[in-house]
Amino acid sequence: MTPHNHAKAGDYAEAVLLPGDPLRAKWIAETFFDNPKLVNSVRNCLGYTGTWKGKPISVQASGMGQPSLSIYVHELINTYGAKTLIRVGTCGGLNAKVKVRDLVLAQGASTDSSIVKGRFGAFNFAPLADFGLLRAAADKAEAAGMRYHAGNMLSSDIFYHANGMAGYDTLPQHGVIGVEMEAAALYTLAARFDVRALTICTMTDCLITGEEIDAEQRQTSLRDMVTIALDVAVEA
Ligand code: HPA
Repeated sequence: MTPHNHAKAGDYAEAVLLPGDPLRAKWIAETFFDNPKLVNSVRNCLGYTGTWKGKPISVQASGMGQPSLSIYVHELINTYGAKTLIRVGTCGGLNAKVKVRDLVLAQGASTDSSIVKGRFGAFNFAPLADFGLLRAAADKAEAAGMRYHAGNMLSSDIFYHANGMAGYDTLPQHGVIGVEMEAAALYTLAARFDVRALTICTMTDCLITGEEIDAEQRQTSLRDMVTIALDVAVEA
């Protein structure tokens, strides 16, 4: 038990999917898991454990942003023994070659967050995905015929910038392909506690072209992405 999680030791599997939205955690558990059991509902930040293809699997909502995700991930690792953490989310596009519905596998995660920057003093730490999980996700996306891009994600602490795109301009010029709000903190915590992490996002809104996903495409894409994440989580 923690202040944010009333699950008992052993309630979570070693592999945990991390959507931001609590209702997406519920949807994942109820749609994909066999025998889903609610293990956490503190603050309605829902967590479930069940099985996928006969293997134990959990899902825990992370909330939005790096501070919220950091709390759940820190506790999943240190209190509940999580070893494989896969964020499943959405991202904005920062490169016109990334189309809505494409998967973005965050190979690395750049950030403006003091959560990461503050830890390393004079150094710019490069938060990275676990290579085995990344490779497995890329292989599975390819086998499923899904368009995907592995590359540098921006994990920003700011959704509504005072100056529109100001500050993002140099990032696409340096190969950053998407923007979300959690991956860098996830990768930094995984590195610190020697566990494996990956972020897989569906691109929902392109900041360069203005293209946006519609509701039906969003649901299909989420289904495909979650299937890949579940297979990677239990097999890789
Ligand atoms: N910015 C940050 N996070 C996001 C976005 C975005 O444009 N789209 C989806 N998640």
